[in-house]
Amino acid sequence: MKKIAVFTSGGDSPGMNACIRSVVRSAIYLDLDVYGIKYGYDGMIRGEITKMESHSVSNIVQTGGTILKSARSEEFRTKEGRKKAYENLKKHGIEGIIAIGGDGTFTGANLFYDEYGIPVIGAPGTIDNDLYGSDYTIGFDTAVNTALDAIDKIRDTAASHDRVFFVEVMGRHSGYIAIQSGIGGGAEMVMVPETSTTIDDVISKLREGRDNKKGSSIIVVAEGDAQGSAHEIAERVKIHTPNMDIKVTNLGHIQRGGGPTAFDRILASRLGLAAVEGLMNGQKGVMVGVIDNKITYTNLKLAISKSKPLNQELVRLTKILSI
Ligand code: F6P
Repeated sequence: MKKIAVFTSGGDSPGMNACIRSVVRSAIYLDLDVYGIKYGYDGMIRGEITKMESHSVSNIVQTGGTILKSARSEEFRTKEGRKKAYENLKKHGIEGIIAIGGDGTFTGANLFYDEYGIPVIGAPGTIDNDLYGSDYTIGFDTAVNTALDAIDKIRDTAASHDRVFFVEVMGRHSGYIAIQSGIGGGAEMVMVPETSTTIDDVISKLREGRDNKKGSSIIVVAEGDAQGSAHEIAERVKIHTPNMDIKVTNLGHIQRGGGPTAFDRILASRLGLAAVEGLMNGQKGVMVGVIDNKITYTNLKLAISKSKPLNQELVRLTKILSI
């Protein structure tokens, strides 16, 4: 293998740049030509492919976002789109690709690999931490710390006014950000898609808090919770708790930005090198990950089809610490 390409796709996550840098520099170190594809699969289809040098990735290890840009491509879902993409890779003589992204990115990568056999390795880059085959994904730690910082600030004002706050964090199908920021921020309750919490549970918890002389309470809600958005949940709770002052904050996309934490920079750098080395050693159709702090390669099909369960120890801890 002499020429490889790297791209980012789907929702961006802090640390993607550190991973791109690692892929580019590792490839050059190992005597490979390395290309950057802009705008993910859309750019592959349009032929936005340029050679990268060591200096192309200078001064980005500390930055959020992705210098290669990102997109959620509709065209790549079609056979014609994937054919165009493959032809563009061939035109540049690219023999292997590294896809940095989440489950949508890997679903595309897996299809592409099945259809064209092009060696592909995925590097898990998503704030959701929802990929089977890696204990952590690039950007998750930063997103948790961003959410935590916000929750700390909300707690100050919640305590001053004896208020109840519902704080919505990201995670369409996953409660990882919610549970970790909830524990770190001392939340009274965490609502996640993986477990079911009823509105009655929420009301009881808030009343119990008042009985225990808690002035304020914070409930962290993952955006994918079955009861709906934090706003919807708050509206339903308010009907039964007229004596409580209830507010809602949706943290939204601030969780996707910002400079990556040390943890994410190091994880991204390790995964970038391991992806390049994996390609050189004949790995294909796999996602590189870290399990028990060791580099692993998991079949892409497994990475996208198996769910990563929430750590039940953390779920229990949340309950115990919120009395
Ligand atoms: O998958 C990452 C993620 O940030 C999810 O937590 C969130 O539900 C989604 O992306 C939001 O996507 P978009 O930026 O396209 O609205």
